[in-house]
Amino acid sequence: MKGLCECEIIAQSEISPGVVRTLLTGPEIANEAKPGQFVNVQVARTTTDPLLRRPFSVHAVYPDQGVYSLLYVMVGRGTALLNKIQPGDYVSVVGPLGRGFDLGDSPDAEHIVIAGGCGAAPLHFLCDDLCNKWGCEKVKVLTGGRSKNAVLCEAEFRSHGVDVAVSTDDGTYGHHGVVTELLQRYLDNDAQRTTHNAQRPFRIYSCGPHAMMREVARICAEAGVHDVQLSLENNMACGIGVCTGCVQKIKGPMKNDKSGQNWHYERVCKDGPVFNAEDIIWE
Ligand SMILES: Cc1cc2nc3c(=O)[nH]c(=O)nc-3n(C[C@H](O)[C@H](O)[C@H](O)COP(=O)(O)OP(=O)(O)OC[C@H]3O[C@@H](n4cnc5c(N)ncnc54)[C@H](O)[C@@H]3O)c2cc1C
Ligand code: FES
Repeated sequence: MKGLCECEIIAQSEISPGVVRTLLTGPEIANEAKPGQFVNVQVARTTTDPLLRRPFSVHAVYPDQGVYSLLYVMVGRGTALLNKIQPGDYVSVVGPLGRGFDLGDSPDAEHIVIAGGCGAAPLHFLCDDLCNKWGCEKVKVLTGGRSKNAVLCEAEFRSHGVDVAVSTDDGTYGHHGVVTELLQRYLDNDAQRTTHNAQRPFRIYSCGPHAMMREVARICAEAGVHDVQLSLENNMACGIGVCTGCVQKIKGPMKNDKSGQNWHYERVCKDGPVFNAEDIIWE
């Protein structure tokens, strides 16, 4: 199978309660992965229990060393099994998979990255590429979590030198409220500072809980911001576009469909996981 490799686990470290960063060997993944792409990991040596691989976004790549990292929250059996794997052991990985973020081609754009909880995982890699391509002064990160412990990767974002604003739902750190309030405030302030025609061309990138991304889509639509890319984390099975277990309803007819139906399904694993917010039908 294309993209199938055995990756050695170099280290696993718990960076926050229940949140683990894993460093793995994998020269092809480290060299080929684009921000927003993911890998599908067989979390145990047996292929039958658990039957399904688990998808994780590529968190960072170090092509010179042929290694990459993942950042995962332990939520169930699969992630618990993955966490038990010792340094020096190997895991079977398929990837990089899916379609990642498009960093655009306008030097005038301001890039706003919005992370919710573990949604920060792919956005650290994205920030790295955005800074390399456009310069860190053009990038702003808004990151939030339920409480201080759930705000992930703040130090990594800051290490890029980008401007970072933080929120927590319970007010234990940063703005007391949800991260989308920071987005609303930022876009409102920008609208006050500039006339409509002079508004900066924003590019928005987000990953996080479904409800958060839906709100990002709503706020951006109201503010007239159209370049909005969301990385969806629908449940997956095969991860390679075969089983249709991960589909998302998308606006518009399917190519060559003459039935008049004004929506169609796309596979998050193959056609995404990154989609334009304006194309998504939220349910
Ligand atoms: C493209 C993509 C990228 C992802 N990237 C990350 C990441 O970087 N870090 C991270 O912590 N998590 C990520 N996830 C979610 C991660 O795949 C699930 O948390 C993981 O599969 C749970 O496995 P489990 O056996 O521990 O949990 P389970 O016991 O199987 O389930 C616990 C919870 O996880 C959800 N879940 C289970 N299986 C999947 C699956 N195959 N796909 C999505 N959700 C699932 C369930 O709905 C349930 O809410 C990503 C998911 C997708 C689709
Ligand atoms: S998980 Fe099988 S088609 Fe997407």
